[in-house]
This record gives sequence, structure tokens and C-alpha cells, in this order.
Amino acid sequence: MSTVIVTGCAGFIGSHLCDRLLASGHEVIGLDAMTGNYPRWVKERNLRAAAGHPKFHFMEVDLCAGDLEELARRAAVVFHLAALPGVRSSWGTSFADYLGGNVLATQRLLEAVKSLDAARRPTVVYASSSSVYGDMEGPLAEDAPTYPRSPYGVSKLAAEQLCRVYASEFGIQAVSLRYFTVFGPRQRPDMAVHRFIRAALCGQPVTVYGDGEQTRDFTYVGDVVDANLAAAELGRAGDVFNIGGGNRASVNDLLAIIESVCSVAVQRQVCPAQPGDVRRTYADMEKAAARLAFRPQVGLTEGIERQVADMRRLYGRQS
Ligand code: UGA
Repeated sequence: MSTVIVTGCAGFIGSHLCDRLLASGHEVIGLDAMTGNYPRWVKERNLRAAAGHPKFHFMEVDLCAGDLEELARRAAVVFHLAALPGVRSSWGTSFADYLGGNVLATQRLLEAVKSLDAARRPTVVYASSSSVYGDMEGPLAEDAPTYPRSPYGVSKLAAEQLCRVYASEFGIQAVSLRYFTVFGPRQRPDMAVHRFIRAALCGQPVTVYGDGEQTRDFTYVGDVVDANLAAAELGRAGDVFNIGGGNRASVNDLLAIIESVCSVAVQRQVCPAQPGDVRRTYADMEKAAARLAFRPQVGLTEGIERQVADMRRLYGRQS
């Protein structure tokens, strides 16, 4: 079993990936800057299982400042999930943080990999985003034009392009996975599913942006972990894959499922549609199915049930 690095290990998806890698016997070096985009205790909770594992080595590191070469030398794969996420919060002065956390951090990581002898370079699996596409009328494949609608989407696309050029110019084994609105236990507190479940459990109203008929191709976190493992094994330098769950639903549908799973009615407050928010996301999954044998396993209701169970523990409501 090899040594791997997970950047963003204390985050939602990164922590699940660490748990799976440890369960299959890998030595895992987990890097995280513990950025304050949501409370530190929530990130520490994400890492609780991994932290007690003898093969897990946590380092609080800012990828824009740390010595990444020394770290990259030790790994067979770098799963690069560290990022400043969030579509609607990426306007204004906060963009400097998006540039650092998403673009510069990725460039420094790729430089560190490039500095190693070709035979010792780890594979890089980069967490890209459906937000690189912009609006999607129907299913879009990976070679469709990209028109991000938010500064966040621009930053994720820029980092993806960096992976592509380091792959083509230096042969670095960098593979990008475009995740589509990931949900499940430990989901980030700013995301819709988390906000809606918290409101349902706490008897609070939710905010619906626009008419609530915008749709997302929701993807369960365990399926995203599967995709990362497959990409590390089967991806080739410069590859890009859509990773969508096939669970297409509107925000209104989502809320109805959450109300049904929690057996409560949730009051809606309507706000204007938000700048940067796309109307629809829809992944064409042919390439990931053909090349990575990726087939999402968890449907929306089942995944929400699991997330509700986790959030009852998070917010201390067991029943
Ligand atoms: C999500 C993640 O937050 C991004 O980090 C990720 O890159 C992106 O998916 C992706 O697919 O690549 P988003 O689809 O905006 O972005 O996910 P949510 O924040 O969960 O929002 C989903 C929908 O719910 C949006 O249309 C949003 O306007 C709506 N929403 C969200 C509300 O109506 N009310 C809320 O309180 C929050």
C-alpha cells in the first residue's frame, strides 16, 4: 500500500476520502490550512475517525506558503481537494482569497511535483467543479465549451487549465474531476442541502433563491470518493472527467424530499436569484463510465437520509 497525500483533508469530501484510503491500508498525509470559511470544530469533527488512525499524519499547512516539494516527494498520489469553495460568495474583494486558495495553491503544488525526477512524481487528482461550464441546457460532455458564471468557477477552471498545461508540457500525471453539487454526511454548512436540513431540524425558515426551479445534478459523497480512487488508477495525464450523480432535481424538489425525510413542513422565504448561480447543471457521464467504470450508486433520497442522520448528531438532535 502506498503513501498518498490528501489536500483539504479536513473538508467535506477530503475527510471521506481519507477514511476510505485508511480503510484500504494506505499511509495518508492529510494537509489542511483549516481556513475559517466555516467553524474549526466542524472540520475537526470531519477528521475524527482519521485522526485516531495510526497511518494518518495530519499537517496544518497553507499550500500557498508550505514546502510542498518535500511533501510531494513522499507520495504516490496527491488528491488535491483543498480549495476555497462557494459560488455566490466569490464576488468582490473575496476574490483575492479564491485566487490564492484555488489558483496559486494548485500552481505551487504542480511546481512541487514538476521539481521531482520524472520517475518519482506522484499522480495529481484535482477536484474541479461543474461551475466551469456555466449554464447547461442538456447534458454536457467534457469537451463542451466552458463559460463559468462566477469568479469561483473562473478560479476552478484556471486551476484545471494549470493541470492541463503541466500535463502537456511536463508530462505530469494530472487528472481533473468535475464534481457536480456533492451532498451527504459532513456536507459544508453553506450548501443548500445542509442549510435546508438544519432549518428542518431546528424549526427555522429556509431561503430559496429565485423561483427554486433551478436544478442540480446532485452527487453523493461516497460516489465522489469512488471516482477519485478510479481516477488515480486509470486516469491519464491531462484527463478531465465529469463526476455527476445522475440525481437531477430542483431546489423545490430537494426541499420537498427533506421535508418528507424529516417529517416536517419548512417555511420558505423567497429571495432574488443570486448572481453567478446557474439555472441547470447536467453531467454527461459517458466518459467516466467508459474510462473509469464509474457508476454512481446512491440516490438523492437515500443520500439525504444519511445526511439527516449525521446532522442530527452534529446539531445534537437524536430523534
Ligand atoms: C456547489 C458547491 O457549493 C460548489 O463548491 C461546487 O463547486 C458546485 O456545487 C459544483 O457543482 O461544482 P451549488 O450548486 O451552488 O455549488 O450548490 P449549493 O450551494 O448547494 O446550491 C444549490 C442551489 O440551491 C443553488 O441554485 C442555490 O441558489 C440554491 N440555494 C442555496 C438556495 O435556494 N438557498 C440556499 O440557502 C442555498
